Amino acid sequence: MKYIKIFAPATVANVSCGFDSMGFAVDTVGDEMSFTKTVEKGVKITQITGANGLSLDPTKNAAGVVALAMLKKHPADFGIEISMHKGYSPGSGLGSSAASSGGAAFGINELLDRPFSTLELTKFAMLGEEAACGTPIADNVASAIFGGFVLIRSYEPLDIVKLPVPDELQLVAIHPQIEVKTKDAREVLPKDVPLKDAITQWANVGGLVSGLYTNDYQLIANSLTDVIVEPARKHLIPHFDLVKNEAIKAGALGAGISGSGPTIFALCKGEEAAANVYKAIQNAYSDKNIDFNLFTSKINTQGVKILETK
Ligand code: HSE
Repeated sequence: MKYIKIFAPATVANVSCGFDSMGFAVDTVGDEMSFTKTVEKGVKITQITGANGLSLDPTKNAAGVVALAMLKKHPADFGIEISMHKGYSPGSGLGSSAASSGGAAFGINELLDRPFSTLELTKFAMLGEEAACGTPIADNVASAIFGGFVLIRSYEPLDIVKLPVPDELQLVAIHPQIEVKTKDAREVLPKDVPLKDAITQWANVGGLVSGLYTNDYQLIANSLTDVIVEPARKHLIPHFDLVKNEAIKAGALGAGISGSGPTIFALCKGEEAAANVYKAIQNAYSDKNIDFNLFTSKINTQGVKILETK
């Protein structure tokens, strides 16, 4: 294989109760990335379209950092050229750097003839997250690479559990066109958590995982609650409470901040509920003088997808 083109999905991290430990992949929104073997060794980023302000310097770009680390661990007698089209903007809360990092890990592994396991790819991709936001968080990258819902059961050692996706689950997400940097959104997090809140939170993670395994939509709805991170961050997102309340009133199972925001996600049972929630969110935001992108999608169960090889 000399060339591979892939789709790297957007991701929703945290899923309300699972801060830094849960996430899922989006089916219809993501980046396209191409990787080409070159005679000249090293990593070159030739083009980034669809987003502004991303560096072409591989030591400063999430995908480049991942590529360099992989080639260091597994030296090759060729170089790699990367080009990418970002399907959505960085700072959206939809795992933009994770799509680049996870996509790079996956694509380069294919060009190298798959020396690395999916778990090892996630570890490489975490280096890209660290370069992009200062912390090697796994929830977005693991969701992008594994697909479906994931649970980061442990960071040290890294242990990822791929969770099932109930068939009728649908995502509706609104991305107000403002940027929230993950680094800034992590600075407002509480340093200490009252035991009572911790109990609520880990009980909800258990409920959500159980609901996903048993297709229990009511249990999923009951568990989409975040008493720790959402209260600390929601002021960063204009009209968060309004959108959340309207989504739930219109039939969403639950709604919350996607990753570190500003995207707000809602999970719904079935396409009809998703269409109603879409309309309710659109109405709620239409007179707010803030541009927004609104979309609905199934959950991606496959992770990174191969679009073309040569
Ligand atoms: N779990 C992370 C956070 C995701 O909420 O800060 C952001 O990339």
